[in-house]
Amino acid sequence: MSECQYIYTFKYNQHYRQLCKLETRQIFGAEVNNNLLFSGLKIDPSISPFIRERFEIISSSSDYKLLLINIEKENIQSEGFKAEYLILDGDETGYKERLNKLRDIGYRIEGIPDYNDPIIIYSICKFDNIWYFGILKKHNIGWHNHKQKPHSFSNSLGMVIAKALVSIASKGDESKLLLDACCGVGTVMLEACFSGFNIDGCDINWRAVKHTRENLAHYGYSAIVYRSDIKDLDKKYDAVIIDLPYNIYTYSDDKISQNIIDSSANKSKRIIIVSVSDIQIMIQNAGLKTIDFCKVAKRGKSNFERMVWICE
Ligand SMILES: C[S@@+](CC[C@H](N)C(=O)[O-])C[C@H]1O[C@@H](n2cnc3c(N)ncnc32)[C@H](O)[C@@H]1O
Repeated sequence: MSECQYIYTFKYNQHYRQLCKLETRQIFGAEVNNNLLFSGLKIDPSISPFIRERFEIISSSSDYKLLLINIEKENIQSEGFKAEYLILDGDETGYKERLNKLRDIGYRIEGIPDYNDPIIIYSICKFDNIWYFGILKKHNIGWHNHKQKPHSFSNSLGMVIAKALVSIASKGDESKLLLDACCGVGTVMLEACFSGFNIDGCDINWRAVKHTRENLAHYGYSAIVYRSDIKDLDKKYDAVIIDLPYNIYTYSDDKISQNIIDSSANKSKRIIIVSVSDIQIMIQNAGLKTIDFCKVAKRGKSNFERMVWICE
């Protein structure tokens, strides 16, 4: 665990358990356990729908007094800081003791604190009888505003799945160029834009394109949306996300789905596909290999189970 500089905390509805595990496998190469993940990778917690906090470890020790000595040695000078206790699964430290520990670290940081609008949050937490001191970065819930997007349709992807698709496609690397090959009303694009990803959209249907553009403009995001059959788009991407048509509001059949998968495979080596049926044969036909997979059970207004295929 010595090379792990970061502790990530997770929160998710049980219904998304498999999707969260898929996301952590794809981003960190490891699965989340006890809602926690130790990693050497630095990821912005706001790119994932499931990561709540990122704790950057400055110092750790099983001996609390030694930890305080180490914090003193850091000689931290910080104006506008705040100290917060992060409660991890299994930590039974009581409220009063947590307050005392906050005071302990607050006294060891030089500067005037700002409790309401801190520039930086220093934090302390305990896991497996080891105390950790570090910097806490919290998840930004601003993306929840996308619930009120001007255009939606009942079979649009949910925001949580859309956000996970972006983090999975990019593996958390914000420099990647992404394509939403069948953008519908732009649910995936909104999540990518919120997290600062470079994403293009494409849809064969003019109304879908119009709605995507209006949804993006509503939040002040700018991204290119092509009104095109994906097969006619001539550009390469680091990853392509496909939410295949379901044959509900727009007609679809295996030939249309195969065309979309084949055309996407020409544009990128990494394809993330969402389907409502088994598409293994189509993936093989396109010369792709499924490297990871999960199912997301139906929930709320959603009529069907979705499958997420990671292909390369
Ligand atoms: C399931 S919907 C996508 C929904 C979208 N993810 C959302 O949440 O709004 C599939 C979309 O694929 C589009 N589509 C179908 N065939 C296409 C093609 N050949 N090229 C591009 N888009 C296509 C449809 O117009 C439809 O909007």
